[in-house]
Amino acid sequence: MPLADLPIDGNTRIAGLIAHPARHSLSPLMHNLSFISRGINARYCAFDVEADQLEAAIESIRALKMLGANVSMPYKEAVIPFLDQLDQTSSLVGSVNTIVNRQGILTGYTTDGLGLVNSLKARGYSIEGKKITLAGAGGAGSPIAIQAALSGAGQISIFNRAYTSQGQTNPTAHKAKDLVEKITSISQTRAKFFPLEDKAAFRRELLSSDLYIDATSVGMGSQEGQEGQSLVDHPSWLSNLTALVDTVYSPAQTRLLTQAQEARVPVRMNGLGMLIHQGAASFKLWTGQDMPIDQVERALPL
Ligand code: ATR
Repeated sequence: MPLADLPIDGNTRIAGLIAHPARHSLSPLMHNLSFISRGINARYCAFDVEADQLEAAIESIRALKMLGANVSMPYKEAVIPFLDQLDQTSSLVGSVNTIVNRQGILTGYTTDGLGLVNSLKARGYSIEGKKITLAGAGGAGSPIAIQAALSGAGQISIFNRAYTSQGQTNPTAHKAKDLVEKITSISQTRAKFFPLEDKAAFRRELLSSDLYIDATSVGMGSQEGQEGQSLVDHPSWLSNLTALVDTVYSPAQTRLLTQAQEARVPVRMNGLGMLIHQGAASFKLWTGQDMPIDQVERALPL
């Protein structure tokens, strides 16, 4: 439906992104295109919110009767005290990327993990019963690990740095251990923590896994056009995998994805699919409708 057929009028509802900074986000494009394509009288804006205005911004979702919002860096944990309730996954992960406003009751969800699982599903790959090696237990790794367990993964080996580059205990290492405990308490999935420094264990776990997910920022280039790094020392470590995801999408072809190509891993994906599918899950929560994924994929400037 062309934009002119869907004017902004007295019934237009608003959804938006709450983040800082917010202007580089691809979400306005994804959601506005989807609202228009589905004939839904709503618009999506990116709101750059200062930290001391976060509570007021969340309150405005109620005051303005917004459909809801996405939440991104650095507020995924900080918004929690201002919401009325969290869904199970969001409460387990301890972070929120989607807020739904139902008659003034604000519920927090996290759709990042679902984004990963559904983007694989769209490629015909189910994680049910699979053995997964996951690197990283941060903003991307935590929701992925929890959702993988809830979606029936057989086993997850979680690798995270145990030490900082100065040789001190990594303050985030406990996140990976906490994840292992949570997974064990909520699912049948077997989960184990490994220090990323243990390269022999990393190689061994990769060689006995079906799926490898790199949820670290290691693959990002430090500058435009510059290739990032890979945690994998040799492509042969990937040779038994049936699928691999690098959650980085810029650059689109990371060093890890090149290694996966050399190792002939059949299903290889960057983080773009995860980004689109987490957005699709938010869209479904707000509107009850499916995002037109193919159209969104074609429209993204990547
Ligand atoms: P966040 O946890 O908020 O997503 P981030 O800085 O974007 O933070 O980092 C994402 C992930 O990449 C984290 O799991 C981080 O691991 P640490 O908890 O050990 O910092 C991981 N990461 C970043 N640089 C890394 C590196 N050089 N080697 C291994 N993991 C790295």
